[in-house]
Amino acid sequence: MASLFRSHNIRKTALLSIGIFFLMILIFKVSSDTTPDLADLLNQAGSVVDPNEELRKNTNGNNNDNSGSSDGNSGASNHHLGGLSFTGNRKQNEELELAKKLNELTEKLLDDQEVRLKKLEKDRLQLEKQLNELRRPHQDATLRERLAYMFPYDQDRKFPAYIWQSWKYGLNDERFGPKYKKGEEQWAVKNPGFVHELFNDDTSNAIVHYVYMNIPEVVRAYELMPHVILKMDFFRYLMLFAKGGVYADVDTLPLQPIPNWIPENVEPSEIGMIIAIQSDPNSQDWREHYAKRLQFGNWVIQAKPGHPILREMIATVTEETLKKENDGTLVLPELNMEMNIMNWTGTGLWTEVIFKYFNDYVLSGIFSKVTWKDFTKLDVPKLVSDVLVLPITCFSPGLGEMGSQSEEHPLAFVKHYFEKLYRQP
Ligand SMILES: *[C@@H]1O[C@H](CO)[C@@H](O)[C@H](O)[C@H]1NC(C)=O
Repeated sequence: MASLFRSHNIRKTALLSIGIFFLMILIFKVSSDTTPDLADLLNQAGSVVDPNEELRKNTNGNNNDNSGSSDGNSGASNHHLGGLSFTGNRKQNEELELAKKLNELTEKLLDDQEVRLKKLEKDRLQLEKQLNELRRPHQDATLRERLAYMFPYDQDRKFPAYIWQSWKYGLNDERFGPKYKKGEEQWAVKNPGFVHELFNDDTSNAIVHYVYMNIPEVVRAYELMPHVILKMDFFRYLMLFAKGGVYADVDTLPLQPIPNWIPENVEPSEIGMIIAIQSDPNSQDWREHYAKRLQFGNWVIQAKPGHPILREMIATVTEETLKKENDGTLVLPELNMEMNIMNWTGTGLWTEVIFKYFNDYVLSGIFSKVTWKDFTKLDVPKLVSDVLVLPITCFSPGLGEMGSQSEEHPLAFVKHYFEKLYRQP
């Protein structure tokens, strides 16, 4: 639209100039017709009217060497004056001929300009298209690039006021136990103003298909998972990545409102994610129970949409699941089931991805190496990059081990029943 408007303006200006040009010819013509002596008058008064002539006359007196060229100049100017409008009909025809030629030339120039403008506009549209394609993930963009494009991360935004939960059964299903019902109720009661949604098998399946329809590998990986517990793990990362907010497992009971999680001396704009320590065992045999020396929990997570940790988690889980399909190992073995879940979708991989993020300078902005030692025996919240890491007490109070304090502790935010959800019918 803008360029169209501009070309209109150019055309208008050009037409106006042509108009003025013809008007001037008309005025000359009219004045030469009505005052036939004007040429004579001007010729007589020539030396007086033309100040250059006066100047030349004066300098001629002082410098005779220049007189020749000066005379030549003044002669040319006289001839020019006469040529334009002061001698006869033949001249007038020539003038009209000249005007016509000028007009044609202007028309041609305008046409050329129009063509050039059209070409410019075409180039501009082409450029705009290329820019859009740059912004859009190109055909062979990686999974991570497409995830980042679909759900960009903005640390400055607020934590969306959502609480997401999921369980095999819906709230109205009789198999939805009273203990979980109380937890579900309390998440809503303690957090007025939050949108609170509990998904069952069917609804979580539907929303994953809907939200990730443009990233088919993700949907495929979700569908391929051979156990509901894997899907529930995957579901939390997918929801938080796309929508942000809080995810809480169904075997949790909130003890304090969500806004209490952020310490007074930390600005919410500094945080992109809140997690808590799951396990920090001091015994040598930790490998029998855990994948990592210190693990972060995933039963309660708060995140802003598009967080890079979630992106990496989703990409890794997707790739590993598709690889298992390819390798024909798409099964969750009964033997060592807990550890297998931990490494596939659970807190083992979760912890690995978080440490990977901390140690990626480009993503986290942290120069020094970050290890489990930075979090062991943590008893106050710690902000590392944009991740607020809470002590074990926050989401696992009353354990009686690994430094977990009682449920009455001011930092006890959420009670976790540690039901082995994957064992439940
Ligand atoms: C789980 O992953 C850890 C490394 O993160 C590895 O040491 C362990 O053997 C894995 N266990 C299983 C059962 O895959």
